[in-house]
Formats: sequence, structure tokens, C-alpha cells
Amino acid sequence: MRVLVTGHQGYLGTVMVPVLRAEGHDVVGLDSGFFADCVLGKLPGDPPGIAVDLRDVTVEQLAGFDAVIHLAALSNDPLGALHPEITYDINHHASVRLARLAKEAGVRRFLYASTCSVYGAAGEDLVTEDAPLKPITPYAESKVRVEDDVVALADADFTPVFLRNATAFGFSPRLRADIVLNNLVGYAVLTSEVKVLSDGTPWRPLVHAADIASAFATCLAAPTESIHCRAFNIGTEANNLTVADIARAVVDAVPGSRLNITGESGADPRSYRVDFSAAREAIGFRAAWSVPAGAQELYQEYTARGLTSDDFFHRFTRLPHLEKLRDAGILDESMRRIVGAGVTAPA
Ligand SMILES: NC(=O)c1ccc[n+]([C@@H]2O[C@H](COP(=O)([O-])OP(=O)(O)OC[C@H]3O[C@@H](n4cnc5c(N)ncnc54)[C@H](O)[C@@H]3O)[C@@H](O)[C@H]2O)c1
Repeated sequence: MRVLVTGHQGYLGTVMVPVLRAEGHDVVGLDSGFFADCVLGKLPGDPPGIAVDLRDVTVEQLAGFDAVIHLAALSNDPLGALHPEITYDINHHASVRLARLAKEAGVRRFLYASTCSVYGAAGEDLVTEDAPLKPITPYAESKVRVEDDVVALADADFTPVFLRNATAFGFSPRLRADIVLNNLVGYAVLTSEVKVLSDGTPWRPLVHAADIASAFATCLAAPTESIHCRAFNIGTEANNLTVADIARAVVDAVPGSRLNITGESGADPRSYRVDFSAAREAIGFRAAWSVPAGAQELYQEYTARGLTSDDFFHRFTRLPHLEKLRDAGILDESMRRIVGAGVTAPA
């Protein structure tokens, strides 16, 4: 298939593109390049790409693709909380517009990166795709709105699929240090402390970035009737863990580290345990990576590639990096690239 991957220069996209290419797909990327140079170690080979802001995509740019995998977004709660209107602009309005233009261009499959955080504070029971959606942040709300609006575009020629990914972990050359396992391992490598700011009790379903890539590849190959207009939770019940469980896996992976659950940030309202059986039954998807294996992988990659404090706290943490690009005059207040500005923030 000829596949357009938006957000291909992000954390997940950088892992996903080689997986899709290995399955024989002809991949083109589309990204505004916010994190293009935020690489730990060797720069990966990117596919051919369209350097454009999602908000400015044209129908002509979408012509000739069999499928669109839509990853591009302001990708976490802190970004969403600081700039809710920009989050809705990019994550909601531009995403729905992208789907509409893709349909107009004759794209038949639209695979959307949604999130399990649409379930919000769901408590102890396992949530299925039919559970009520109770987003508690602008980021999660933006994902719910896209699902609602894009469902309405489905017809015999246009198949949207909503992959509600658990929180990702694992090494990507375009690292993110602001997701829980990657963060705990990095902090432990740099300080020998596994520091949990909450009381450690919230449930967090986790899934490796490579497993997310494989879920999208599985959806590209699946018969239309198995996926048409469906939402799938992406992950595995084995990785429904509390933050304290995750932290203990990090202590085991990072030699000489010790656990410190400070509780200083108070109770975290985001807590949910997720049922992943629908994707297993409909498309045979099974996540392979465990959290202890992911913690080991991260420890090895961080130490082999020489993770520094500056990288960890700034370059690989989405919010400070975007603020740096804005302060350097590379992005404007709406997070659009300023014409004629460079691409790299000063060190
Ligand atoms: N990483 C996770 O834990 C996780 C979990 C669930 C869902 N998701 C979703 O998966 C997707 C990818 O996540 P990620 O972790 O790779 O995020 P990321 O921040 O690493 O990558 C997002 C990419 O989108 C691009 N982008 C952002 N705004 C853009 C715009 N206006 N125009 C063009 N490109 C733009 C960025 O440049 C970046 O390359 C996101 O939609 C995210 O919400 C991620």
C-alpha cells in the first residue's frame, strides 16, 4: 500500500515507519518537524516527507495514498493544558479536516492515533471500547472530539479506525522523556533515584512503541469488515500496572537505583485499567513487550548512547522544547513555523 504517515518525525512515527516499510508499504511522511533534530544517538533514515503544518494540508497532497496513518498532534497533557486552544486547533480541527480531505482525495483507510486516556478516571474495572468516555484534560478531550467527528465520515469507500493506544514506552531514536517509563528510567540513570511524585496508586496501561507500530501495520492488512469504523484499545492486560509497580520494574532494571515515592503531587485523577480483547479477537493483535523488558531496553540504550541531563529535561521533553522553539523565533504563538526562520533552536 502507499501510506501517508503524519507525525513521522515524532517518537512513535520514527519507530513505525521502518515497521511499515518492512511489511512492503511505500511510506511517505508529513510533519512540521518540531522534534526532527531531537535524536538520541544516530539519526534514523526518514522516508520522503512533506514538510507542512497539519493545519495547511491540501487535498492535492493527499492524492494517491491508499491509507493515512494520523499521528501528528500536540501529544500530551502538559502541552494541552498550557495551550488548550492550540491543542484543539491542531488535534481536533486540523485532524477532522485531514480526514475530510483524505476522503475527498480517495484515501480508503484512515487510521487514527487515539488514546486510552479518553476513559479518564475509570477506577478498578477493566474498560472496554464501549465504556463511557470521560476525558479529563484538553488533550484527551481533543481525541474524543476527533473520534466523534470522523465516525460521521465513514462510508463504503472510507474506513476510519480509532486505535486507542495505552501510554507508550520504549526506545525510539526520537526519544520522549515525558512518558512514564521512559521518564522513570532516565531519571534513575541520571540520579540513581526512581522518583514517583504521585502516591503510586493510579493505574497506567502501558504498551511498547514497537507494539503500537505493529498494531497499525495489522490494521493496514486487516479485511475492511474487521475494522470498519471501530475503536480498538491497543496494549495488553499484562501491562495494566500501577505507577508503583512500574517504578519497581525500573529499580530492577537500573543497577544501584532506589525507590522514592514522594506523593508530593497528590492523587492523580487519571487512573484506568483497560481490556484489550477486542483487537485480539477482531484482528489478532497481541502486544509482545513487557514493562520489565522495556525498562531493561531503555537502560541499555540510555547508557550506550550517553543520555545527558540537558537532553532528558529539555530536548526530549515536549513542552520545554516547543517553548524553546517559540522563544527562539522559530515558531509563532500559534505554534506555526515562522517563514524564513531556521529549524534548530540554539543549544
Ligand atoms: N506516546 C504515547 O504515549 C501515546 C499514547 C497514546 C496516543 N498517542 C498519540 O500518538 C501520536 C504520536 O505520539 P508521539 O508520542 O509520537 O508524539 P510526538 O510528540 O513525539 O510526535 C508528534 C509529531 O507530530 C508532529 N506535529 C505536531 N503538530 C503538528 C502540526 N501542527 N503539523 C504537522 N506536524 C505536527 C510533531 O512535529 C511530531 O513529529 C499522537 O497523536 C499522540 O496523541 C501517543
